Amino acid sequence: MNILIIGSGGREHALAWKCAQSPLATHVYVAPGNAGTALESGVSNVELNTEDTDALIGFVRQESVALTIVGPEVPLVAGICDRFQQEGLRIFGPSQAAAQLEGSKAFTKDFMARHNIPTAAYRTFEKEQEALDYLDSQSLPIVIKADGLAAGKGVVVASTREEATAAITDMLSGNRFGKAGHRVVIEEFLSGEEASFICLVQGRQAVPLASSQDHKARDNGDEGPNTGGMGAYSPAPVVDTAVHEHIMKDVIYPTIEAMDEEGAPFCGFLYAGLMIDQGKARVVEFNVRLGDPETQPLLMRLESDLVDTCIKVLDGNLDEIDLQWRNGSSVGVVMASRGYPGSYPKGDTITGLSDCESIDSKVFHAGTTLTENNEIVSSGGRVLCVVGLADNVKEAQRVAYRTCSKINWPNAYYRSDIGYRAVRRQDAANNKEEIA
Ligand code: AMP
Ligand code: GLY
Repeated sequence: MNILIIGSGGREHALAWKCAQSPLATHVYVAPGNAGTALESGVSNVELNTEDTDALIGFVRQESVALTIVGPEVPLVAGICDRFQQEGLRIFGPSQAAAQLEGSKAFTKDFMARHNIPTAAYRTFEKEQEALDYLDSQSLPIVIKADGLAAGKGVVVASTREEATAAITDMLSGNRFGKAGHRVVIEEFLSGEEASFICLVQGRQAVPLASSQDHKARDNGDEGPNTGGMGAYSPAPVVDTAVHEHIMKDVIYPTIEAMDEEGAPFCGFLYAGLMIDQGKARVVEFNVRLGDPETQPLLMRLESDLVDTCIKVLDGNLDEIDLQWRNGSSVGVVMASRGYPGSYPKGDTITGLSDCESIDSKVFHAGTTLTENNEIVSSGGRVLCVVGLADNVKEAQRVAYRTCSKINWPNAYYRSDIGYRAVRRQDAANNKEEIA
């Protein structure tokens, strides 16, 4: 069958690469894709905008695409799946109503409160003065969030009152995030370790993927401004068996059952961003899609056929899914353009990519473009995600960074500590063994 992936990031490159390996796949198209998907075997790009639903439907009909998978949140929140379904076309993702779990933080916080799903205490504001008055009554640190979609950048974890005040003013009267910031959520700060927990969901059924963890802050040690994600790894050791069971029982099932009850049954990838503290998980956010960059290390470890899996989900046959994961770990390092998440230069020629791929490493492209003379140039904030796969996280990290060191362009920037928490745990466990 022909398959269409919608999007242009590293997540979509990983999806296209994985789908192309399926015996069920004839050809994989990516709209609009990037230089990595243009060069991937069995994959080609289609010059269509992710939000041009009519054109995408036209393409799907013309090329007899039998399965469409949506990567990013924006078309999902705009209702692309509803449109495809009205046309009788098979698409993997949630309805517009279910996509509110990501599209509106205020909706999601109210939803969690209604259904006793563990999360941080919060209040929602549209008026600046009311928000500032509330801030006065709260302790620090405190978290200020723009209500709508802001590409992972609409969240400020403020450790001073000045920072919190500036964030509120910026969002409610400074128009920093446009419409997305006309309502803000002020939220209790949660401490602990974050993990990404992604499930395949159809109605009240769910199959969890392997756990993962991303690094949202720009700089080493998880310092600096929030970004879309500077690297990720799988599995996340903080999600042990007990935590896994607790998440399924107290977060995932209550969420999907309540969505179904409220008339917005979920279908697709449901991503719970969790803060885990002493074995107790609380929801920081929901996403209604796969994470980027989590997908890249996750799909490196997935041994099962992704196309077959998606079809089983769409047909409601989740009980037939038995996902197989490669043992060990994978670590994905995002190589970004210097300046991201602020403004950054574009158009740098990227060199050194030719001998980066092997059985244990893969470079997924995000903000790259193939020029007319077949050069690969940078064209976005997050440019590449370099993934290493190995028997343990320390070795996977080494493989990833060895590969990064071969790649260059004038304004390349990346963190040098992706996966450090898991590496630290591994070192601590090894030391214990030695002492024993
Ligand atoms: P979000 O877009 O809601 O996932 O927030 C982005 C990042 O901000 C999260 O991944 C956390 O690192 C941080 N964050 C968000 N909400 C909180 C919170 N209530 N407490 C602590 N950190 C938070
Ligand atoms: N890596 C976080 C996200 O995809 O939202």
